[in-house]
Amino acid sequence: MNRNRNFLPISLVALLCFSAPGFSQEPPESQKEVIAILGTGDMGDSFGPRLADLGYKIVYGSRNPESDKVVALLEKTGNGASATTNDLAARKAEIVFLALPWGPMEQIIKSLGDMEGKTIIDLSWPENEFGEDGYFQITADPSGAEIIQSWIPKALVVKAFGTTGTNVIDDPNDAGGPVTIPIASDHRHAKEVTARIAAELGLDPVDAGPLRMARNIEAMMALYMIPHTQGRDTGWEFYFRRTNYWMCNDYVGGEETDAGIPVSDAGNLAEIPQTQGTPKPCPQ
Ligand SMILES: NC(=O)c1ccc[n+]([C@@H]2O[C@H](COP(=O)([O-])OP(=O)(O)OC[C@H]3O[C@@H](n4cnc5c(N)ncnc54)[C@H](OP(=O)(O)O)[C@@H]3O)[C@@H](O)[C@H]2O)c1
Repeated sequence: MNRNRNFLPISLVALLCFSAPGFSQEPPESQKEVIAILGTGDMGDSFGPRLADLGYKIVYGSRNPESDKVVALLEKTGNGASATTNDLAARKAEIVFLALPWGPMEQIIKSLGDMEGKTIIDLSWPENEFGEDGYFQITADPSGAEIIQSWIPKALVVKAFGTTGTNVIDDPNDAGGPVTIPIASDHRHAKEVTARIAAELGLDPVDAGPLRMARNIEAMMALYMIPHTQGRDTGWEFYFRRTNYWMCNDYVGGEETDAGIPVSDAGNLAEIPQTQGTPKPCPQ
């Protein structure tokens, strides 16, 4: 099967993304937020330059902000990027990317202050153990993102971006088609900020529900790694192709479960840029 048949060319996705109704939320470049990126490894040095190109002011958080590695990254990033310690970087920013390994996460998060009202985007993978079958353990209950939220309860924690690789952040065209970014958070504003950034990066944001759904996202991260764990020479990317099935079959839900329990964001669902455009009309 030619899976690419279903993919919109990335240039068309970009066009749809910039003409989609929800996308008018994008602030003018001069008003774009300061973004702190904690960690200057593979993910940090992919997000920083791309976000700077989009007009965001980047401040890196690093254990060694004056190292040659970080100085070179600042040059690559441009747009007035700077680097400092993790806690100072986070204090200077409205949006904080956690491009960190899980090991030092607790110690770093607890050094940041309460981060009240800030959007904290966790892309980390808290998994580092293997089962007897050689595959990663799934310790997704609670998720790493929920644990982080419990350390900084006044912050707006989001789980996103961990389900793809640095090559796709560097260049979304590398995936051969659109790449979906599931986003989970208990905070509508933070979810919308993250979705806007994902769309600006040329990715396809979807609302994955409240933060506890980060358990599913972290399980997807384990799924993403399976071909690598097996030693295969190709992997995959997640692409959630939209369907109009519910709309065309009069089966649209009412923001509540079949048990009649309203979802926690009933009446307050996040607006997510529709990077796949409007659904095709229902058959007559
Ligand atoms: N690489 C990917 O394609 C990918 C994809 C999905 C998710 N992720 C997740 O994203 C997170 C970051 O991944 P990455 O690939 O960027 O990792 P990485 O290359 O190892 O970089 C992590 C950075 O975190 C900082 N750090 C702070 N304390 C540290 C410590 N005690 N030990 C090591 N590093 C420390 C370091 O920056 P400073 O030296 O500047 O302090 C380091 O460069 C991880 O949780 C990973 O699972 C990665």
